[in-house]
Amino acid sequence: MFTDTEIKEKWFKFFEKHGFKRIEGYSIIPENDPTVLFTTAGMHPLVPYLLGAKHPAGNKICDVQRCIRTSDIDSVGDDYHLTSFEMLGNWYLGSCPKEEMIALSFEFLTSKEYLGIPKERLATTVFEGDETAPKDEVAYNAWKKCGIEHVFYQGKDDNWWALGGGVGPCGPDTEMFLDTGKPSCNENCSPACDCGKYMEIWNDVFMQYKVENAGEKAVALANPNIDTGLGVERALVVLNGVKSIYDVGIFKDVIDLIGENAGVKYSENDASKKCYRIITDHLRTTMFILGDARGVVPSNVGQGYILRRLIRRAVNCARNINYNTKYFADIIDMLIDNHGKDYHDLEQNRQFVKDELAKEVEKFSKALEEGHKEFEKVLFGIEKHKAFAAQKGEVVENVISGKAAFRLYDTFGFPLELTKEMAQERGYSVDEEGFKAAFEEHQEKSRTASAGVFKGGLADSSYESAKLHTATHLIMAGLRKMFGPQVMQKGSNITPERLRIDFNLDHKMTPEELETLEKFVNDAISQEVDVVCEEMSIQDAKASGAVGVFESKYGQVVKVYSIGNISKEICGGPHAVNTRDLHHLKIVKEESSSSGIRRIKAILD
Ligand code: ALA
Repeated sequence: MFTDTEIKEKWFKFFEKHGFKRIEGYSIIPENDPTVLFTTAGMHPLVPYLLGAKHPAGNKICDVQRCIRTSDIDSVGDDYHLTSFEMLGNWYLGSCPKEEMIALSFEFLTSKEYLGIPKERLATTVFEGDETAPKDEVAYNAWKKCGIEHVFYQGKDDNWWALGGGVGPCGPDTEMFLDTGKPSCNENCSPACDCGKYMEIWNDVFMQYKVENAGEKAVALANPNIDTGLGVERALVVLNGVKSIYDVGIFKDVIDLIGENAGVKYSENDASKKCYRIITDHLRTTMFILGDARGVVPSNVGQGYILRRLIRRAVNCARNINYNTKYFADIIDMLIDNHGKDYHDLEQNRQFVKDELAKEVEKFSKALEEGHKEFEKVLFGIEKHKAFAAQKGEVVENVISGKAAFRLYDTFGFPLELTKEMAQERGYSVDEEGFKAAFEEHQEKSRTASAGVFKGGLADSSYESAKLHTATHLIMAGLRKMFGPQVMQKGSNITPERLRIDFNLDHKMTPEELETLEKFVNDAISQEVDVVCEEMSIQDAKASGAVGVFESKYGQVVKVYSIGNISKEICGGPHAVNTRDLHHLKIVKEESSSSGIRRIKAILD
């Protein structure tokens, strides 16, 4: 059996031997990329270098990158879907020696010292060509030269790689598969079909092109690159010939650890299996998010909301298998012992991860039992209604109303997705539109209730307050520049005399950091920039990169305030006309507001 640690060790031994410099994997929170919440592939943080910037470690590098893809979150619990994974990568930056890379791939896959796969069990695919790029005969011939018999030409759907949004560096790829030995499903059986005969292991992308703007054609890059990616978890399953990722490596270790203290034992045949697996996967992803140097804590927006969903779902699963959540800390220790070797921030943040996790677990656990009671009441109500309607020959569907789902969310802390999952398990669905409507109605009510005190952050409409409001946008821009795009405004209160702003940040700001922030704002003030307001649809605002909470109704028109290139936020206003009117900002206090939230008070003098 290969373990995950062993595959990684072999990878670095091999590539370092061939002159690639190992770099530390990047943060799981992407920097300056508002289009995605998390790093989704090894190449993702390397985009600037793939587009020509010089990497400090040189032009041949390798790493292991923690990644999160939440699109599969609902499938977690089956044999192989995960919310986080590790990608081993190696890169040629600014050159594209395809034959050399294919020879290296062949050696790593087949050499006894490394993966030791007999070459007869390998099959590969290469790009068949289209109007953008020619048929990849170079790659085809290189594989043949290595002695691979089964090399398949395939089209863009299978052998072209680009980032999820379709923008950025991209190109034809060659993919490597293990032939499992299953008989061909028909005479056209190839790695493109999903009969299970061929399992993908590794992907070498020849990044010779780039797409500048969404929907545009790919154009050739002056300095092409090679970007390769081997998913550790997938390789573990394929190489060990096991049915499920939870049967090997760290995943199996965590499953076994849970089994030591859970009231319900792991069984292949019942719902317990799904719960064990969800706890394992979700706590691993939680550990990656909370343990990251750019730490995010649970909240109701963005990355924080994903984190909250993961933790709360794990808590609910623990309840189902009668597992005390106090043992979550042991799981985190085991995960960090395993992953801390590759990502050093995890080790540094070990205690923080455990503390923040425990806080969120506690917050949710309090309401969990009551929430389950409420959930049962809702189902009971539907059944009663159904029986009554049946007497009149009417049919009532198994749908939980939006109002009921919102109550579970608002009063008991059940994320909508958890309610949906619990409903589904019992044969019900949830009226999601109704949930959204209830959510918006609630927001509207809280706004009206506090009108005059808190209107878009402004207590009055004096020009003094408008200037301070503009200053809060500059402060946010400065904070995001200093600490990353995960920093968001969490509240604000402005009077004509001073501003107060809350934001998420994992540490107390140092005097130097406060000075840098103050300087950032005062520089923007002295640049005398006009503050411009535009009205646009929420989708356009999002596409333009404006910062804000995008939970409003689809199609709704919002105001976007821009301060040159410095700041762009969805906001109700009003604002100063030009930054010069702010004169000078002075930060008077920085303090904790609540867990993970800092508060700054400032004046204009
Ligand atoms: N970037 C390529 C992938 O993610 C290697 O598959």
